[in-house]
This record gives sequence, structure tokens and C-alpha cells, in this order.
Amino acid sequence: MSAKFIPVVDVRHLHTSQVKAPIGAPSGSLLDSLNRPLRDLRISVTDRCNFRCVYCMPKQVFDKNYAFLPHQSLLTFEEITRIAKTFIAHGVEKIRLTGGEPLLRKNIETLIEMLANLKTTSGRDLDLTLTTNGSLLAKKAQSLKDAGLKRITVSLDSLDDAIFKRMNDVDFAVADVLEGIETAHRVGLSPIKVNMVVKGGMNDSEIVPMARRFHGTPFILRFIEYMDVGASNGWKMDEVIPSSEVIRRIHADIPLVEIAPNYAGETASRWRYADGAGEIGVISSVTQAFCRDCTRARLSTEGKLYTCLFSGSGHDLRTLVRGGRSDEEISSTVAQIWRARSDRYSELRTVQTLELKQRTKVEMSYIGG
Ligand code: GTP
Ligand code: 5AD
Ligand code: SF4
Ligand code: SF4
Repeated sequence: MSAKFIPVVDVRHLHTSQVKAPIGAPSGSLLDSLNRPLRDLRISVTDRCNFRCVYCMPKQVFDKNYAFLPHQSLLTFEEITRIAKTFIAHGVEKIRLTGGEPLLRKNIETLIEMLANLKTTSGRDLDLTLTTNGSLLAKKAQSLKDAGLKRITVSLDSLDDAIFKRMNDVDFAVADVLEGIETAHRVGLSPIKVNMVVKGGMNDSEIVPMARRFHGTPFILRFIEYMDVGASNGWKMDEVIPSSEVIRRIHADIPLVEIAPNYAGETASRWRYADGAGEIGVISSVTQAFCRDCTRARLSTEGKLYTCLFSGSGHDLRTLVRGGRSDEEISSTVAQIWRARSDRYSELRTVQTLELKQRTKVEMSYIGG
């Protein structure tokens, strides 16, 4: 798709139907029942977080009585690495560490070092990245870089302290996250993406200020539609600001031009500023699902494999790993699970919202964002 100027903006036509190349699926690679290869592994390294974002870990649910996982339930770094190797052998090229807040996991740099040494089946380095709330980033950026982390994504929902504090619900200040982003940039954890979840009535007034703030910087700001993940955020469709509206508001302030995806199945639709001063993305999992090309598997903190962000249950790999099973046995279990995969929750949600509301869903802080 060539870049072109769109005066009336509708993000709904921007998705993978316009991606000419099919998903790279070399012969012999593992495909699910909808023909989607396994390419990304998102590993949650802790279910804990020092924020209580209203859309993710609301305080009413994640209070002092909440039962977080006990230490012995967590996969060790050796166990994570062993499982990761199996996934890489099946075609995984990108690993994202998530949580909870992954920088809360003790000695996370050790895990990064172990993963950074692994090569993809085509002999390349892994795309090794991490999603963080930025609270510990100024302190940790250098050690993460030294350990072999390639790039980083930082969540930031507002530039206004009052709004940001209302969203993170722990009184954390914007300036500290911005300092984390700057430090990550300085040590070379690039490209840096900044993720903003837009919740209508809460921080949508920050869409244009955030765009202005990152316009002209190397940071790629992405606006995420508020999703109905988990069971505790009290999601309502009328609090979702569609990406088309996000683009409309920014475009009225700083003209935008749509650009082609970096790869088939990319979660974000990309736009660049018409003046050449950077790019933004919109992630429209509610109004324009991207399940058709979804290549993502998720490994929970306690070693369960989820084949969809919205799965009700996972497949227990920890029992296999701790039960003396061979690498071959684990590998063939993973292959079997992936081949049977037929998830496309977000696509179905749009047609069956009411019915699906009844389903049990796993929390995002547990499974990883
Ligand atoms: P890049 O590797 O930098 O392209 O990142 P990414 O597109 O994988 O995005 P990231 O991990 O930063 O995810 C951004 C947000 O998109 C997440 O926090 C979720 O809100 C949403 N998201 C990511 N993956 C999925 C998915 O598989 N399904 C749905 N519905 N939403 C997703
Ligand atoms: N809707 C959309 N994204 C969410 N995240 C967590 N909860 C939600 C939700 N309800 C994502 C955000 C955040 C990351 C850690 O998880 O992108 O930045
Ligand atoms: Fe923590 Fe991220 Fe969830 Fe916020 S969105 S509570 S920072 S895991
Ligand atoms: Fe993939 Fe499930 Fe998200 Fe669809 S809803 S993109 S299948 S994780």
C-alpha cells in the first residue's frame, strides 16, 4: 500500500486486507487451524504491578487481600528459557516480556541475558522486547540494554498529572515516566513505542496533547482502544473511543498520512505526520479486530500457554517441565496445541458482544498485555 493523503479518515480500511504479502510462513512452519503461523511469544514474568490502572488492575479487585501467585508457582528463568527454545524451534521470532510489571521481577536482567543468546530458526537474533509502565525504567534502562534487550515499549496514558494519577491510581507522576523514556532512548533501547490506552471520559482529552508532545520525537506513540480484557474492569462499549475518532482529532491538529504496516499481522495501523516529523499508530482491537493474522502465543507467569488474550483457560506447560518430560515431548505438546488453535475472540466480539460478555476471561495482568 503506498502512502497517500486521506482527508476523511476511516481507520477501518487500513488493516491487513491491504497487506499484499501473505504472512511469512515458510514451508514446514507450524500453522494453526486458521492457517496462522506461530511467530510471537509474550511471556508474563510476574502477575504483580506497582500501578493499579483502572482499566487493568482496579483497586477494588486487586486490593491487599488479592491472592497473587506464590513464588514457587512462578516459572524459573531456566524453565522460561527452556520453553522459549521450544517456541523458537517452532518459528517464534519475537519475544516480549510483560506482566504485571516485568521490571518488578527480581534479576530480570538475568533472564534477558539468557534469552538474548537464543537465535531464530533462520539464525537471526530474536526481536527481544519488553512492555513496562516506566516507573523503574530510569533506574534500569542501562542494565536492560547491557543484558541484551533490543527495544522497549512504555505505557503512558496522559501528560496531565491529575489524569495520569487517576488512571494509575497510585499517585505516580508523569515526569518519572518521561524520564524513563528519555533514559531508555539515551542508552539505545530503540525504537521506543509509547502506548496510551484511551478510555472515554477519562483521558480522551489527552489524545491531542500526547500527539503534540511526541510529534517531532523519535518515539512512536500508539493509541489503544480500551478492551474488555479480564472480568474486573467493568468494560462498557460506550467508553471505547474508536481509532477513527483518534485519527480524526489528531489529523485536524497535525495532518496525518497513512502508511503501510511493517509486517502482516501488526497490531497497529500506522500513520506518519505529513510534515515528516514522526509516526503514530492506532490499535483498534475493538472496532477493527486483527485476529485474522494473529501469530501471538502467551505464556503466563505460572507456565500456562494461552492461545488468545481472551482465552478462558490455558494449557499447563509447567507440569510437563517439572514432571521430567523431554524437550521433544514439550515441543510436540506445543505443536498440538497450536495446530488446534482457532481463537478469534475480537472478531467474534464485534458480532456477538452480548453473548460473549458471559464468558470467563483471564485477567490481563496475569496473562500479559
Ligand atoms: P510491536 O512488536 O512493537 O509491533 O508491538 P505490538 O504491536 O505487539 O504491541 P504491544 O505489545 O505494544 O501491544 C500493544 C497493545 O495492543 C497491548 O497492550 C494490547 O492492548 C493490544 N494487543 C496486543 N496484542 C494483542 C492481541 O493479540 N489481541 C488483542 N486483542 N490486543 C492485543
Ligand atoms: N484495554 C487495552 N489495553 C490494555 N492493557 C491493559 N489493560 C488494557 C485494556 N483493558 C495494555 C495496555 C498497557 C499494557 C500493559 O496492557 O497497552 O499499556
Ligand atoms: Fe500495571 Fe500495566 Fe496493568 Fe497498569 S496496565 S496495572 S501498569 S500491568
Ligand atoms: Fe489474537 Fe485473540 Fe487478540 Fe484475536 S483476540 S488478535 S486471536 S489474541
